Amino acid sequence: MGQIIAGCLAPHPPHLVYAENPPQNEAKAECGWEVLRWGYEKMRKHLKALKYDVLIVHSPHWRTQIGTHFLGVEHLKSKSVDPIFPHLFRYNYDLKVDVKLAESIHDEAKKLDLEVKMMRNPDFRVDYGTIVSCHMTNPDWDVPIVSISSNGAAQYFSFDVMQAQMFKLGEATRKAIEASGKRAVLLASHSLSHRHFVLEADPPEDMSKEHITHHGQYLWDMKMIELMKKGKSKEMIEILADFDEQTISEANGGGLSWMMSAMGFPTYPAEVYAYGTVIGTGNAIVEWNHLEKGVE
Ligand SMILES: [Fe+2]
Repeated sequence: MGQIIAGCLAPHPPHLVYAENPPQNEAKAECGWEVLRWGYEKMRKHLKALKYDVLIVHSPHWRTQIGTHFLGVEHLKSKSVDPIFPHLFRYNYDLKVDVKLAESIHDEAKKLDLEVKMMRNPDFRVDYGTIVSCHMTNPDWDVPIVSISSNGAAQYFSFDVMQAQMFKLGEATRKAIEASGKRAVLLASHSLSHRHFVLEADPPEDMSKEHITHHGQYLWDMKMIELMKKGKSKEMIEILADFDEQTISEANGGGLSWMMSAMGFPTYPAEVYAYGTVIGTGNAIVEWNHLEKGVE
């Protein structure tokens, strides 16, 4: 039987890829955001040792206003340019999709009455949320991915409606993984607090200018991390709507809610590899080590 071997909060500031200077990115940096990048390095090493077959990422920047879409093309190659930071992120991607597993999650979700669709456009441009989280988790790109869109249910209806949908999507994801026989790593691609500066430092990697936007955001981030470290994922999900309202986080896309549901709302402590800010936003790199801690 297939299984979820880990679930990770994997934030996607394009700055992290920029600062790593991989050959795929045209923009070049001197350095920057080391605490977060070294946190990713630790997580990546740990995941690699677990030997996974597929990365399944839920991205707030692939926004399908209604329903949930899945990449449904085996090979996608193009250039991804961040709309806000085109001077930092112009990334030539070349990635493989596990279409069979994506279809299987799609089918399971449909059985639960979710609005779902396979994305079959071969010229589709993959969003930078998907790319940055996957690159930072696995810069070798040697395993296929499944990419899942986020929708506007939190805005159109309410945060609770969105979460109810994401809980079902999590269930569908788990069932499909189990049937696939594969070892999957889940990635919730988003930050914690998300109030950011409106002016950029020059150069952008000038770390003397980097800090949290304000203390209130920091306190909210610490509250969330405390719950993660204590294994209180249900409590975390319950206060997520308040957290989102106070910090305009990206949790309203549903990534964390989806992932916690897929893993059955873990009660064991998560591993926090790093916390740091990017243009004032709070970002944590966190792993729920489901293989070692989640099996009853
Ligand atoms: Fe974002």
